[in-house]
Amino acid sequence: MLKIFLLAIVTTALAAPQPPLQAAEACDASKCKLPECRCASTNPPEGLDLEQIPQFVFLTFDDAVQITNYEIYTELFYNKTNPDGCPVQATFFLSHEYTDYTKVHELYVNKQEIALHSITHQALTDYWRNLTLDGLQAEFGDEATLITHFANIPQEAFKGMRIPFLQLSGDNSFQFAKQLGLTYDCSWPTQTFRKPGLWPYTLNYKSNQDCPIGPCPQSSIPGVWVVPMIDWTDLSNNVCSMVDACVDIPDDDADKLLQWFIDNFNVQYKGNKAPFGFYIHAAYFAVNPVRLEAYKKFVDYLQGLNDVYLVSPSKAIEWIKNPVPMGAEGWPACPDVEDLGCTSQTCQLMKEDDPNPRYMTFCGSECPAVYPWLGNPLGEK
Ligand SMILES: *[C@@H]1O[C@H](CO)[C@@H](O)[C@H](O)[C@H]1NC(C)=O
Ligand SMILES: *[C@@H]1O[C@H](CO)[C@@H](O)[C@H](O)[C@H]1NC(C)=O
Ligand SMILES: [Zn+2]
Repeated sequence: MLKIFLLAIVTTALAAPQPPLQAAEACDASKCKLPECRCASTNPPEGLDLEQIPQFVFLTFDDAVQITNYEIYTELFYNKTNPDGCPVQATFFLSHEYTDYTKVHELYVNKQEIALHSITHQALTDYWRNLTLDGLQAEFGDEATLITHFANIPQEAFKGMRIPFLQLSGDNSFQFAKQLGLTYDCSWPTQTFRKPGLWPYTLNYKSNQDCPIGPCPQSSIPGVWVVPMIDWTDLSNNVCSMVDACVDIPDDDADKLLQWFIDNFNVQYKGNKAPFGFYIHAAYFAVNPVRLEAYKKFVDYLQGLNDVYLVSPSKAIEWIKNPVPMGAEGWPACPDVEDLGCTSQTCQLMKEDDPNPRYMTFCGSECPAVYPWLGNPLGEK
């Protein structure tokens, strides 16, 4: 009995201190102040005119980065700059399986944002809904370890996460994001706060955001930023959070498709300039070549607007914490990354409970013993 008791004390002492969460109270803007706190609100940062506020655009891709889609990304984003002279950034919510980690390394050193999207990407939504802090650590915390190791990028690279199928787990994923030292989560859609759009906010106080794929957080989790996924609408006025989930789209013609992108963009751009997200999966372009043509034109269109910034959510949050007019002093610095080098290696590895081998390309010299997976992110014996 005593032994069990002592063990319990030791285990508690070893784990990161986790004070119990308090129920979130209504947000009082006079107490919740930048840079640490922002109420859930459609108001742009105070004290600025709309003409002084940048329109941030988040171009994100979910799932595996592979050689084929990597080449599309280089063509779309490399060697392009925002009005502040900093590189254009897209964000990659990475899942592990089939990812080519040498390409992840390249994306990182070319100033793109690498974010977490789980090791297994398991298909049961109930699994994500039920995940505890330990389960989240195994899927996302260990994924950070895995990517750090095989893409040879620093652990501080990771600022954000997105849960597969956008399936929230109440307080857990946000509490976990805080524990891991992430800045934001970008998994929570809003249908209600589209027009005007909901700006990113912190979870110090109760959120009034609608909860389409609950359970949503109820507790106060200070300092974690929610980057709301503001829904688009398709031609029949159905809402969609991931653009590739929109159904009634003019997919047969690049110019019509481009116009539909612009119409959705204008809901924010001609409104309160809440950051505009264009959220798709890596496979989006493979389905229909018209999509890539329209997307390229859209990036060019945005590059023609002198108040539009194609950035990662973490860069936008940096600005929101300390909002200054475009062109003024105090504007966030350009991303500065260190290239730790990458020697490409491809190994054939066996995956647990699977007769088919996986080919994994990564930065390193020695093959792991097995295919890295849940509970064994470095693929050790
Ligand atoms: C970007 O510019 C560098 C240096 O000029 C060049 O080597 C590289 O090929 C360019 N990349 C793309 C995708 O245009
Ligand atoms: C999730 O939790 C529910 C309720 O506790 C349980 O019935 C279900 O089996 C769990 N599902 C998974 C996949 O863990
Ligand atoms: Zn996914």
